[in-house]
Amino acid sequence: MTDTVSRRSALRLVGGAVAVAAAATGGATSPAGAHAPGGPGPSAGRRVESLLARLTLDEKISLLHGATDPAPLGQAGYLPGVERLGIPPLRLADGPAGVRVTARATALPAPVLLASAFDPELARRYGRVIGHEGRALGQDVLLSPMVNLIRTPYAGRNFETFSEDPLLTADLVAAEIEGIQGEGLVATVKHFALNNQERDRESVDVRVDERTMHEVELRGFKAAVDAGAGAVMGAYNKVNGTYACENKTLLTDVLRTQWGFEGLVMTDWFAAHSTRKALTAGLDLEMPAGTHFGAALKRAVRDGSVAERYVDRAVRRILSVLDRFGLLDGSAPPRPERDSRAGAAVALEVAKAGATLLRNKRGTLPLADGSIAVIGQPGSLPFISGGGSAHVVPDHAAGPLDALRARGGRVTHALGEDIFGKPLPAAVLSPRFDSEGRRVEAGRTWSYDGTLTVDRADEWTFVIHYSGAPTIRPKVVLDGKELFPLVPGWGEYFMGGYVTTAADGMSVRRRTVAVAKGTHKLRITAPGGDTGQRFRLRRITSATRAQDVAEAVRAARAAHHAVLFAYEDATEGQDRTTIRLPGHQDALIEAVTAANPRTTVVLNTSSATSMPWLERTGAVLQMYYPGQEGAAATAAVLFGDCDPGGRLTQTFPFDDDHHPVAGDPRRYPGVGGTELYSEGVHAGHRWYDAKGERPLFPFGHGLSYTSFGYEDVSAHWHRHGLDVRFTVRNTGRRAGIAVPQVYVGRSPDLELDQAVRVLGGYRRLALDAGQRQRVSVRVAPRTLSSWDADRHAWVLGTGRRSVWVGASAGDLRLRTSVEVHG
Ligand code: BGC
Repeated sequence: MTDTVSRRSALRLVGGAVAVAAAATGGATSPAGAHAPGGPGPSAGRRVESLLARLTLDEKISLLHGATDPAPLGQAGYLPGVERLGIPPLRLADGPAGVRVTARATALPAPVLLASAFDPELARRYGRVIGHEGRALGQDVLLSPMVNLIRTPYAGRNFETFSEDPLLTADLVAAEIEGIQGEGLVATVKHFALNNQERDRESVDVRVDERTMHEVELRGFKAAVDAGAGAVMGAYNKVNGTYACENKTLLTDVLRTQWGFEGLVMTDWFAAHSTRKALTAGLDLEMPAGTHFGAALKRAVRDGSVAERYVDRAVRRILSVLDRFGLLDGSAPPRPERDSRAGAAVALEVAKAGATLLRNKRGTLPLADGSIAVIGQPGSLPFISGGGSAHVVPDHAAGPLDALRARGGRVTHALGEDIFGKPLPAAVLSPRFDSEGRRVEAGRTWSYDGTLTVDRADEWTFVIHYSGAPTIRPKVVLDGKELFPLVPGWGEYFMGGYVTTAADGMSVRRRTVAVAKGTHKLRITAPGGDTGQRFRLRRITSATRAQDVAEAVRAARAAHHAVLFAYEDATEGQDRTTIRLPGHQDALIEAVTAANPRTTVVLNTSSATSMPWLERTGAVLQMYYPGQEGAAATAAVLFGDCDPGGRLTQTFPFDDDHHPVAGDPRRYPGVGGTELYSEGVHAGHRWYDAKGERPLFPFGHGLSYTSFGYEDVSAHWHRHGLDVRFTVRNTGRRAGIAVPQVYVGRSPDLELDQAVRVLGGYRRLALDAGQRQRVSVRVAPRTLSSWDADRHAWVLGTGRRSVWVGASAGDLRLRTSVEVHG
């Protein structure tokens, strides 16, 4: 428990540091290292066996669980080595959007933005940045990439993963792992498996049939194993009744026996539940401490309930990974210097390449000359990443406002939706106290017992900003009700990094309550803790909100263009409850678009969002969490310096009632602790096809500033797959990015429930005005196959199959068909 608490607090600190980071630090530059880890050859095998023979039982057990790092660098985990035998310690750091340690690192765009580029080569370069920096920052193992599919728009980690589509996910994860490991850092694909929601993630039992598992969720993991991932991280949840970290079907039958995985399997943090069951099922390493694989394992070996060969098996797997990365014989190249400039360049490129233009009417974008009203808090405060273990302390962080101002035109800014609240007027408090700048000394407690008087009934959002740990934040009690109680579970510690951190680094919590006209009892107890604490108490009311909206409307009306930044803050450990934008942002957008139809809404959101105001906007640009270079990238896309290169990797539904997990709580969030994958293989865009349901924006959708024509399709089957050829022509007047996608229909020969269409392949093309290009996309036999659960094997879907080429799953332009035979 102590471990849990200290780790959780440390995470907050790392997260908190993000918002205070402001100045750029130029790291020393050096070319990216090119160490390619060798495979386990015969001498490697001998080295590992000889070490194994010399290790004592205590030493072996010390290699099977995490421990406290004597010289921590702010990373998530540590594994002590065995010095006397030259086995080095290992440092394990998150994560998916850059290296999460105390020191600064490149804060890359969220993985979902990377995925939106539909470009495995870019994923490889993204991986190389993380691999290089991980080694430079003293790390050995990276706890990334995450490949769990986007199954529900509510899942808190949708920004940290790639897509709802198995093929796209598989392509990207393979390339990113090759990039990471090519720099000598061990990659850990996570979370194996079916951790597709954060709600109840530590207990939910995911019920899924074998076929769905293989065709949908597991495809990314399999690709990671094929790409040589050194490590796999087990998920928190259960799968078909058994915790993933002690699930023999997953850890041995699928991972080792079917896929031939030779690396190590670790738990997610605190996700181990047993000793014997987990070890024999195939788990090798318990993280971050040794609750089950420490003293308990030693006792079990001693009393004979666990055979020592299982300990040896796990140690052998861990040592083999170390050996493969040159960590046992000293052949790993020396740690490089960080190359922050190279990191920033890739961060900028990815953010531009993934920027997804969802709508562009009346020539709203690119922005032409004329004044711009920037509206919304993310306009000034940089929204660079989501929360939780995907947080990175960035080299620098600037808001888009500066980037837009740098263009030289007239740019105004209005707050729009207030996130941090306005000071409480002194007159409403009796006795009065300075609610803006309270300081409590270490070891002391400050308390207040008074009243709050309001002159009309209203909805108040109380906002507290505090500098201490969540456990010692001030207790604010209104009429006997505590306003900011500690939320049980992980969400509290993993809150997002944006709306939960003020510009000066203070943590922020909100609570909206109805406040009746009259006088209310207010009690505040603020402990100073060990280090002292500062706090301020603020509020947002209908009146302050109306003023903010009026100011935004005035600014929008006075300017030629309005650019409104809307946000939604996501984090692991908790799900969203709706796909609507949080707070009153929908109303704000309605008001601003009514005042100025040349309004562009820029979405700094984690996943699909509903857009009741869509038809009123000029343009909508999806930027997700764009990383430390997000401001520059956003400005570049808005002004048309580059084409918006991204396409949606998940379908955007119209609302909370029309998507694959809507209306059936057994499917999501689960009933009685069980979550059913009853949509089967019809996941993501396949569900919309199966149901004939039109989404707000389909999978693969994204506009360019130019237009493209598609023509002349042909398809040819041969034993290596299906080659689909077609021509794409830039029919507009400027260069742009096209992402043609190939979809393949059902096999008439398989008596299995098949998707109406699966994504077969895609290509990212940069075409000059008027340029035409003949494109060939290879659809792999695996993509044309279904999993036969009786034979536990893939079967090729033979017979005549339809083939479509389109600009998205909902915009199919060409069609042909082809005979597939075995
Ligand atoms: C997350 C993992 C992460 C680990 C270490 C867990 O809570 O689920 O993705 O790697 O913490 O920070």
